[in-house]
Amino acid sequence: MGSSTFPLFLSSILLSFATLTLSQLDPSYFLSNCNETSGNYTANSTYEANLNTIISGFSTLTEFNYGFFNLSTGESPDQVHSIALCRGDMNQADCNTCLSYTATELKRVCPFNKAATAWSELCLVRYANRDLYGRLENDPRTCAYNTMNVSNPNQFNRTLSDLLVDLSNEAATAGPLRKYAAGNASTGSGNPESVYATAQCTPDMDQQNCTTCLQYARDELQKCCYGRIGCRVLRPNCVLRFESNLFYNQTAVLLPSPPLSPLPSPTPSPTPNRGNENKATGAVMLVIALLLCWIC
Ligand SMILES: *[C@@H]1O[C@H](CO)[C@@H](O)[C@H](O)[C@H]1NC(C)=O
Ligand SMILES: *[C@@H]1O[C@H](CO)[C@@H](O)[C@H](O)[C@H]1NC(C)=O
Ligand SMILES: *[C@@H]1O[C@H](CO)[C@@H](O)[C@H](O)[C@H]1NC(C)=O
Ligand SMILES: *[C@@H]1O[C@H](CO)[C@@H](O)[C@H](O)[C@H]1NC(C)=O
Ligand SMILES: *[C@@H]1O[C@H](CO)[C@@H](O)[C@H](O)[C@H]1NC(C)=O
Ligand SMILES: *[C@@H]1O[C@H](CO)[C@@H](O)[C@H](O)[C@H]1NC(C)=O
Ligand SMILES: *[C@@H]1O[C@H](CO)[C@@H](O)[C@H](O)[C@H]1NC(C)=O
Ligand SMILES: *[C@@H]1O[C@H](CO)[C@@H](O)[C@H](O)[C@H]1NC(C)=O
Ligand SMILES: *[C@@H]1O[C@H](CO)[C@@H](O)[C@H](O)[C@H]1NC(C)=O
Repeated sequence: MGSSTFPLFLSSILLSFATLTLSQLDPSYFLSNCNETSGNYTANSTYEANLNTIISGFSTLTEFNYGFFNLSTGESPDQVHSIALCRGDMNQADCNTCLSYTATELKRVCPFNKAATAWSELCLVRYANRDLYGRLENDPRTCAYNTMNVSNPNQFNRTLSDLLVDLSNEAATAGPLRKYAAGNASTGSGNPESVYATAQCTPDMDQQNCTTCLQYARDELQKCCYGRIGCRVLRPNCVLRFESNLFYNQTAVLLPSPPLSPLPSPTPSPTPNRGNENKATGAVMLVIALLLCWIC
């Protein structure tokens, strides 16, 4: 591969970003980061074979584990590590579908990068040539917002800030298996009347690191999304999101949280909600194009 391929490679990534912001009705929302400093693998290498093993495994994961996976394949120096997380209200079938799609797409947009990260509508996938488990990291991160504005930013900000603090605490203390919280609040008056939000950490974060991650995310959200009607802050270890419409499954949130007490591990799946075909959840508010802000 000559260096002349690089501009082409870069522009294909930029192009995929542009396309994404224009096709937001597609529930297959997708944002990615290819790590250019972690090294490259070559075509048909052992590293690529290991990566393919992990990616193809996502569609057939038999354990649900509350939608969280810490996987690795192969042996050093070709060992591939992966962390994958579905939104806290997902059932197993939709989770597997999301992870499979997201990982496949990630490899396609980051060809030959040993490490890469992707966030899609319902899940997060990372892979790398190093262990990612339990490490609170700052990069990559991004923020994507809806260009529509609220009518009363001051009041909206107060309501939203309180809601996000509550949800962050709830997520951080939710136990070792699932660190997810969702909720809504009334903005009192104006447009919108309600705000809906979720906060989630990868469960390999302990309570302190989850709290820290969500604190960083709220700080970023202040800078990136003040006055906006919807926004998501995407980080390697946590995700924060708010919208003016109900974008998560309220019923699923009411399911009991996994107990904190020692559990046999791996944990059996809660009753999977098969037959749930509502793939459009969360797509409605995306009628308005999102703008992206890397590291703002
Ligand atoms: C990996 O490839 C990219 C683009 O082809 C290049 O910019 C980068 O320097 C390479 N990284 C390493 C560590 O070789
Ligand atoms: C990799 O394998 C594919 C399929 O076997 C082959 O078409 C391709 O030429 C190989 N590429 C390299 C760089 O060896
Ligand atoms: C996570 O995966 C790594 C390998 O990537 C492994 O060393 C580690 O023990 C795993 N941690 C847990 C808690 O499963
Ligand atoms: C919290 O994150 C830091 C930074 O990655 C890590 O060194 C530390 O071990 C984590 N704490 C726990 C208890 O996992
Ligand atoms: C890329 O990976 C390196 C470790 O190899 C890490 O230090 C760096 O933060 C990563 N960069 C991004 C943007 O993820
Ligand atoms: C929202 O507010 C921003 C900043 O004040 C402004 O630049 C933008 O044009 C507004 N968007 C709409 C759709 O009115
Ligand atoms: C939004 O509200 C929070 C919490 O009340 C406050 O700390 C922050 O300064 C407010 N942001 C703006 C831009 O007024
Ligand atoms: C929260 O959302 C539900 C369902 O959309 C709605 O019925 C309720 O009024 C909302 N509560 C607040 C405080 O906005
Ligand atoms: C929400 O979750 C409940 C309980 O798990 C499930 O019965 C329902 O089908 C889900 N609804 C949607 C729209 O996903």
